[in-house]
Amino acid sequence: MSRSIQRRLVHQASAPYRPAGPWAWHFARGKLGGDPLFAALLGPGLLPADGRYLDLGCGQGLLASWLHAANTLHAGPDWPAAQAAPPRISAYHGLDMHAAAIGHARQALAGCDFPVHLELGDLCDCVLPEADVITLFDVLHYLPASAQEQLLRRIHRSLPTGGRLLLRVGDGAAGLPHHLSRIVDSLVVRAQGGAWPRLHCRPMTAWQALLNEVGFRTEPWPMVGAGFANVLLHARPL
Ligand SMILES: C[S@@+](CC[C@H](N)C(=O)[O-])C[C@H]1O[C@@H](n2cnc3c(N)ncnc32)[C@H](O)[C@@H]1O
Repeated sequence: MSRSIQRRLVHQASAPYRPAGPWAWHFARGKLGGDPLFAALLGPGLLPADGRYLDLGCGQGLLASWLHAANTLHAGPDWPAAQAAPPRISAYHGLDMHAAAIGHARQALAGCDFPVHLELGDLCDCVLPEADVITLFDVLHYLPASAQEQLLRRIHRSLPTGGRLLLRVGDGAAGLPHHLSRIVDSLVVRAQGGAWPRLHCRPMTAWQALLNEVGFRTEPWPMVGAGFANVLLHARPL
């Protein structure tokens, strides 16, 4: 993705967070501009052309704002011919236990041209609505090991034929980069007013073995410029 389209995307996708206050806006700008996950989502093959999204641990709902911004720019004259058409969202359901984040998402996503439902709840006991794409970006390690497994089993049962799970997890065997990632995650939770979280990480081989055991085939997906120790996984039911 060219630098200029990325800058415009970051501007377009973060602007709706401005009314939610300086933290929400600066966080959106920093995350969308600095995290290689978002550019990777617009690359070919990772996401379907169109689909219903269930974003578990959605935070401020940046995923929906990013894809909405990409589709808005794609409809205008400046979308580069070399850049694939962005994936469309036909409906977005975001769930998070952090009330302020859900509040920011509600404000920012009010102008989306697809149905948006934002739910305050706990991943461990929520109902999973049917979706074509389920995302768990930097979330699973907040749950204890047994809850991680139960959630993945429920996701596997809820996905329709052709559905996919996208998740990003930390590689617990990655040494210093992994420890830095954990510190960043903990600081973000603290800055948002939460308690110091207890994180439950696994080495990448163990994440993949767990996903395989619950019935997923996984494929690590490249993120250009990725630092730390976070790995994007594309998972399809076996
Ligand atoms: C590092 S943030 C990632 C947010 C978002 N996925 C993103 O990439 O911008 C982790 C999120 O998981 C949420 N979370 C952690 N445990 C949760 C649980 N048991 N139920 C619901 N949300 C949870 C936190 O509130 C936080 O918003």
